Amino acid sequence: MTPALGSTAMRVMIDGTPVSDDQAAISVFDWGVLRGFGVFEVIRSYQGRAFRTRQHLDRLERSAEALAIELPNRDSLDSWIVECAEMGGDGQVRVVVTGGGRDPQAEAPSRTIVLWEPVPSGPDRLSLLPMKALWHPATDTDSFSGVKWTSYAPNMASTDKARRVGFHDALLLTADSLILEGPTFAVAWMSEGRLETPSLQLGILTSITRDVLLESALRLDVEVKQGFFPLERLLDSDEAFGLSTTKEVTPIEKVGEHEIPVGPFGKSLAEEFRSIVTAETDRATTAS
Ligand SMILES: Cc1ncc(COP(=O)(O)O)c(C=O)c1O
Repeated sequence: MTPALGSTAMRVMIDGTPVSDDQAAISVFDWGVLRGFGVFEVIRSYQGRAFRTRQHLDRLERSAEALAIELPNRDSLDSWIVECAEMGGDGQVRVVVTGGGRDPQAEAPSRTIVLWEPVPSGPDRLSLLPMKALWHPATDTDSFSGVKWTSYAPNMASTDKARRVGFHDALLLTADSLILEGPTFAVAWMSEGRLETPSLQLGILTSITRDVLLESALRLDVEVKQGFFPLERLLDSDEAFGLSTTKEVTPIEKVGEHEIPVGPFGKSLAEEFRSIVTAETDRATTAS
């Protein structure tokens, strides 16, 4: 049975087969379970339409290649995502592909989980605690940079650490205090009339929301600069934003003890962002 739109019930498919929540299971010998060895994506769905699936699948393919995980074929993945998005309406579709059991004594096939989940509610404005992330693949711009793997323990531990001292989340920095990203989001800010954001050359995730924000800036004739920026650049910014599939464009109002204004640029960027989303997903204006 498909629960009513807006319900918090999950919809799960494993290897393309719909399963009920209580039957959704994979082997405990899967390295996804034992070692966090797997890749994933979270795709926003608006009115039951998945947003930017192509880019998400491109990134999933890059991640899987880095870990030598074989994916189901792209058309199948695409159709499972479409199906889950349509079942759920507004929400997000999570795709996880596990590494399978790779120990010779406990082999298990790689599994593909596609599930619909409600968008988790988050704050309207973010407060971030800066912290050095020496585990971050920032130093590795070769093999593992930008890989969206399920080994997210350090990311989640950073979020948790920030929350325990009253912040919403962490802001991850290199050893030299260059700005990287949040544990589950990208960052950008306005400075001297320009939109600035850390360069992908730092090994941060190629955030799809960040891409859409850069497109929004272009449409608003706002100059964009991607680079290597020290923390002070963000602290002195005119406005700042946390960016992700889940957060979309959320203003950052505090970094450490430093207040950051929330102002008109963010509003315009968020509106432009929304108009791109609507143009691509609105059932009234796009062909199915
Ligand atoms: C480390 C990290 N950076 C950035 C992002 C934002 O990426 P996207 O905009 O594609 O959701 C995420 C999303 O999960 C993330 O985990």
